[in-house]
Formats: sequence, structure tokens, C-alpha cells
Amino acid sequence: MLARSTAFTLDVLDAVPVRVEADVRPGLPGLTVVGLGDAAVREARERVQSAIANAGLRLPQRRMVVHLAPAWLRKRGSAFDLAIACALLAASGQVEPTQLDGIGLVGELSLAGEVRPVAGTIAIALAAREAGLNRLLVPVEAAGAAALVAGLTVIPVATLGQALDVIAGKLTVPAARPAAGGGGAPVPELADVRGQPDAVRALEVAAAGRHNLLLVGPPGTGKTMLARRLPGILPPLEDAATLQVARIRSTTGLDDALDPQPPFRAPHHTISPIGLVGGGVPPRAGELTLAHHGVLFLDEFGEYSRLALEALRQPLEDGSVLLARGGRSTRLPTDVQLVAAMNPCPCGRGGHHCRCSDADVARYRRRISGPLLDRIDLLATVLRPDPGGAPAPTTAETLARVGEARERQHRRQGSTNAALSAAEVGRLAIDDDAGEQLEALYRRGGLSMRGAHRVLRVGRTIADLAGDDRIELRHIGRALGLRQDLAGDAGEAAAA
Ligand SMILES: Nc1ncnc2c1ncn2[C@@H]1O[C@H](COP(=O)(O)OP(=O)(O)OP(=O)(O)O)[C@@H](O)[C@H]1O
Ligand SMILES: [Mg+2]
Repeated sequence: MLARSTAFTLDVLDAVPVRVEADVRPGLPGLTVVGLGDAAVREARERVQSAIANAGLRLPQRRMVVHLAPAWLRKRGSAFDLAIACALLAASGQVEPTQLDGIGLVGELSLAGEVRPVAGTIAIALAAREAGLNRLLVPVEAAGAAALVAGLTVIPVATLGQALDVIAGKLTVPAARPAAGGGGAPVPELADVRGQPDAVRALEVAAAGRHNLLLVGPPGTGKTMLARRLPGILPPLEDAATLQVARIRSTTGLDDALDPQPPFRAPHHTISPIGLVGGGVPPRAGELTLAHHGVLFLDEFGEYSRLALEALRQPLEDGSVLLARGGRSTRLPTDVQLVAAMNPCPCGRGGHHCRCSDADVARYRRRISGPLLDRIDLLATVLRPDPGGAPAPTTAETLARVGEARERQHRRQGSTNAALSAAEVGRLAIDDDAGEQLEALYRRGGLSMRGAHRVLRVGRTIADLAGDDRIELRHIGRALGLRQDLAGDAGEAAAA
């Protein structure tokens, strides 16, 4: 007899429904699993047979074949055990086959028949909802996370026996309730930073317009400290983005939580290009995708491999990266805000305390190529803080201002200022004197066209923070002060 059940496999950033077909017919006794599974899938044979026996049920002494469809899709992991066991029991007449319709079955089986958790619960629950399933049976540990996905009945099951009773309608288990949002890792308080008014202001402008930011300064001045406080002053994500971030974290095995706080990823500078942008066999998402809708923080920017930094350019520009592996291609989202921190030179001191040769400094800066710098709107020079300096504004106050500035951008153009195209920048309302000043600077050769656009975008954000409708001369003046010009004297000024 033939029977089928539904399971899920993870495919880069999605969970994909897998039809588990079981056929039991006369022949040499034995169980075969086909359908492009990895070693963990092949080993399901042993787990499933033991689990069924230990649940007090028997598989017939016949030839049993389990096929995981679609056959072309590679299946990984141990999440199919429960679905395989149920399909086999239905094919051997111990479960009514129609009772498996509309149910998703997720979980690894122990030899004793306990249902164990697997990776990617949130992604699986989303896929189950999209596939129109009305019930999802999951391991008890994963039930709270799966129930975060609205519009799906999630039933926690502890053992194979319990799952069979639920399927047969002999046992009613209350549907799982959504797990309480842990709210992710706490973000440190901005007011901990002292004596860095200009750098803190740059961080606020970066947050308000979602501009990429480079912090340059000598060691121990608070660059890393500042960057780590950025997520706290970013407005929470909207529901669709929250769900997308949760799906990415879930399929990459990080965790199963719905957290509206934008992600913050800080990969170490020894990371490989593939680790950063994704790739490999099987294809995996990189740090850029894990930072989607949030912040990618590259500390010690000059220390990353040249290849890793070059690999960033295209995804930063396009907001996505196309991975082509094994005859298939997958597009991964990479819409991130880049924050980078570095010292002005290899010895870190910069300015007249610097002990580096000119050649050393030039080599250090060449690491960060022009095209990559072109994608960074803001440069903040972080000076040695004044020990008695005033604390920065609190995270809460700053977040309120950033939130209002974002609102203004959304009402005006439906996007952040950093995302404005060159044409849109050209249409921004600007006071005559401000426009004239920029033009004069451009004519003198003090600014490239791209540089001028950058000043306008940042100027627009400064105006949004001030609640002004037009870009005024003072906004342009402030934006020029935050100009990204590492090769010039801004980097030197960092250490002076
Ligand atoms: N402006 C500041 N306000 C308060 N504490 C500070 C400040 N700057 C530095 N500190 C203290 O010094 C420590 C080191 O700062 P941080 O790691 O941010 O420096 P950095 O600029 O990133 O240095 P490096 O270039 O070596 O990475 C912080 O953990 C903090 O305790
Ligand atoms: Mg640091």
C-alpha cells in the first residue's frame, strides 16, 4: 500500500515542503530511503525502525521504500524522521492514510521514540502556512517558536506514540502558544560614551538616514563602543522585515525568535569572502545576509582581506547577492547599513605622534579601495575623549529623534535618505545659498559629483533631524564636516 506525509527541508533561506511517500509491498524485508538525502537522512532508517518498535508497534516483514520528493532537491538533516515513521505506519495499515492530509510533521526521533528538536522551526512554520497546511506537529521544545507564525495550529508532541494518538484523534493536545519575545540581546546605553559629541552626533545622523559610516581614530577612544550602541538608536523593524530576519536566523540555525530590533553582526576580520557574502556547497548565507535589514559592523576595517572587502562592493550596491552553485542559483538579500572602524595608520596613533613611514600609511589605506569608500556616506573622526567630557544623550532620547527623522523621510519619499538615487537627490528642495556653496566647491574641484550627492543626502538627513523641509546652508555646512575623505586630511585630523 502507498501512503504519504509532509515534512520540510531547509534550502538556503527557505524551508521547502517535502512529500514523504512510503510504499509497502511483498518482497525481501527491508527499508530503503531514496530521494537525494544526506547521511543523516539515510540513517533515518535505523532511528525510525527502532522508534516504531519501542513505541510498541511493528513494521511488516516486507519490502518498504520511502521516497522524499521532489527528488531533485537535496535533503539534509534528521527532521524527516517523524514524517517517515508516520508514512510507513500508514502504508502498513496502522494509521488511516487520509488522517495525514493537511498535517506537517517535524522532528527527529530517538531510538526510544522521543521527538527531538531540529533547526529552522520558524522557517518551517512559515512554509507550512504558505503550503496551506492546517496543523503542524513539532517537538515540544520548538512549539513556542513555531506558534509565533500566526494562522497555523501548532501541536507540541513529545513522543511518536503521542503524535500517532493526535493524528488518530484519540488525544487532544492544546495548540502551542507563541513563545514570549525575549527581545534579543540587550543593547548597551549610548550615554555610557563620554566626551565624544561629534562622533555621537555622526552616529545619530547615520542612524537617522541609514547612512554607511566609517569611524576613524586612535586606539581606545571608543570606536567599537560607539558602533555597538547603534542598534539601540535604530527604529524597530516593521512586521514583514521582522519575519524575514527571523526566517534568515532560523534557517541558518542561529535561533528561532521574532525580534523587531534590527540585527547587528560583527564578524571578525579573519572572515573569508564566503563567510562574509555567502556561498559554498551546499550554499549558505554569509554575514551580509544575517545583517539584512540591520547593521554590518566591520571593526579594524583595514585588517580584512582585500578579497573579502572587494566581495562586499556589489552586494552593498544592489542589496542582494546571487549565489550560483551546483547548477542552481539563489538570490540572498543583503540590504545592510555598513559601519566600519579603523585606526588612521598601522601604529594607530596618527598625526604627529605617528611612527609609521609614509609608505606604511599609504599601504594601510590602499587596503580600503576607492570604490568601497564610495559607498560610505559619513566619516567620523573619533578623537581622544576629554576625560571630564559630558556623557552622550541617552539611547531613548536619541531613538526618539531618529524615529521622527525616519518618519519624515518615509512621508516624503518612501525610503531612507541613504537609499535615494542620484535622480532623486537632484530633486531635493534646497535653499539657493546652500546650492550655490556646493556648486562653488564643485567648480573649484574640492568635491566630485558623487561627493556632492553624498553631501546632499547627509544634508537632507541633518535637515530631517532638525525638522526642516528644505536643505539649508547650515545643514550643508554640517554635512561637509562629516564628509568621507579618508585619503585627505580627515584621517590625519583623527589623531591630532
Ligand atoms: N568616549 C569614551 N567614553 C567612555 N569610555 C570610553 C570612551 N572611549 C573609550 N572608553 C573606554 O575604553 C574602552 C575601549 O574603547 P573601544 O574599544 O571602543 O576603543 P576603540 O576606539 O575601538 O579602540 P581600538 O582602535 O583599539 O579598537 C571602552 O570599553 C571604554 O571602557
Ligand atoms: Mg575597537
